[in-house]
Amino acid sequence: MSMSRGEDLALAHRLADAADAITLTRYQALDLTITTKPDNTPVTDADKSAESAIRALLHAHRPDDGIVGEEFGNEGLDKNRYWVIDPIDGTKNFLRGVPTWATLIGLVEKKSDGTESVVVGVVSAPALFRRWYACEGGGAFVVLNSELPKRISVSEVARLEDASISHSDFIGWGNRLGAFNELLKQAWRTRAHGDFWSHMLVAEGAVDIAAEPSLALWDMAALDIIVREAGGRFTNLDGANGPHGGNGLSTNSALHDTVVQALKVKR
Ligand code: IPD
Ligand code: CA
Ligand code: CA
Repeated sequence: MSMSRGEDLALAHRLADAADAITLTRYQALDLTITTKPDNTPVTDADKSAESAIRALLHAHRPDDGIVGEEFGNEGLDKNRYWVIDPIDGTKNFLRGVPTWATLIGLVEKKSDGTESVVVGVVSAPALFRRWYACEGGGAFVVLNSELPKRISVSEVARLEDASISHSDFIGWGNRLGAFNELLKQAWRTRAHGDFWSHMLVAEGAVDIAAEPSLALWDMAALDIIVREAGGRFTNLDGANGPHGGNGLSTNSALHDTVVQALKVKR
């Protein structure tokens, strides 16, 4: 079955709608169930229900595609396309009542040369009344308060001393922590907006650099295409393109090489 980008994007919005209906109902619910995963991180009934709902829609509408999801693992990774789901990015925010959480949905396609790239992405943050989305070659957009979509683009800030940097926290930087702190000192402004939000602010041109030292594919797939379609770059901290590099760096493009250079671990 051959699908157009438009049809895939429309389905990604449907998946996000289904997730929003579940997550918003469970957000701040007094009977929210929280358990601890083997990696010692929390998960709620909302994370699991949202991913199950998305998987059920994908089984019905894209039976030939694979799926990678944070809570229920991989299926059909031998397929030419697979959907990448983080049902709630920012679970720790979600369970404490901080509205910065989102459902992240990406579609990855394998190219004939063996490389993979994200071709559709939706980031839906209903407690922030925002949804960002992009598909390959179609630009990046934000919808605020269910109003008409607004095209977004990255900033033109070209010097570190004029740049605003957002991150999540200081955990996980390992032997890069010193270099990261030096980078922050050189910037015009730093804030830890955290999670997907840092990267979407880069796509909107409100922040110029977002960096995180330890991320999985599902944390990054949707962010990658939205940042790129807004004119930015998305790589890992070493500058390798795409969401497969174990950590993530979004910039407005102009600052990208400078940041990769600054974060190089000195030996
Ligand atoms: C977390 C967020 C966060 C990152 C953590 C992730 P979760 O995702 O993406 O930005 O620093 O490493 O685990 O668990 O809330 O989906
Ligand atoms: Ca995540
Ligand atoms: Ca998650």
